[in-house]
Amino acid sequence: MNAGQEAVWIEIVTLFPELFEVPLRTSVIGRGAERGALRFSVHDLRAHGLGRHRSVDDYPYGGGAGMVLRPEPLHAAVEPLRAAGAHVVLMDPAGERLTDRLARELSRVRHLAVICGRYEGIDERARSLADREVSIGDYVLTGGEIPALVLIDAVARLVPGVIDPESHGADSFVGGLLEHPHYTRPDVFRGVEAPAVLRSGDHGAVARWRRREALRRTLLRRPDLLADAVLSAEDEAILEGLRADTASES
Ligand code: ADE
Repeated sequence: MNAGQEAVWIEIVTLFPELFEVPLRTSVIGRGAERGALRFSVHDLRAHGLGRHRSVDDYPYGGGAGMVLRPEPLHAAVEPLRAAGAHVVLMDPAGERLTDRLARELSRVRHLAVICGRYEGIDERARSLADREVSIGDYVLTGGEIPALVLIDAVARLVPGVIDPESHGADSFVGGLLEHPHYTRPDVFRGVEAPAVLRSGDHGAVARWRRREALRRTLLRRPDLLADAVLSAEDEAILEGLRADTASES
């Protein structure tokens, strides 16, 4: 549970509420909601559509392909959430990139509202509804629903009471490194043995092995991360050794 605290409340504004039904009820996030650490409200943007057809979009001024979400339904849906104190995030490929750091920052917000864009885009005058715009990466999806689910999953797992904090303390990207490799039973699988040190019961040796392997993996796969990583003098010495090993191998 959330140590006597109220649930973190995440509201979603979307044209496709059904896309959220299963993901928010399933697995870690679903359990977090059942336990009362998380609360979700999904709002159908169509409820604020205009006219008999509940229209939410229109042709772009100036011409061009695709449709643009009109500002009025977005304002009608989001203004009450803002008035209730929600921190409003618009999912948009032009937004700031979602990172572990941003997910941690957003996990401390008690009331979030996530707007899912659709079609070719949203009317520019609706952007002022958002406190920030977030992109999940440099590629374009058909709408903001899947990006919103990515953001919600990344944020919700960090909310106290959702998972054991120990299991995200060593996540990849925390401290700026990729995570060390994991092993479980059996001891030997298809001729490959799980490292003996992990089965030794020596916690100090396990911690040293994991740190070294996290450094090795980051150096090999994402050396760009090392520039901003939090590294001790010992880490630097390990990296120097790893770099020398790779240089002598090639
Ligand atoms: N909507 C469409 N593509 C997106 C992306 N990459 N990030 C956030 N929202 C989006």
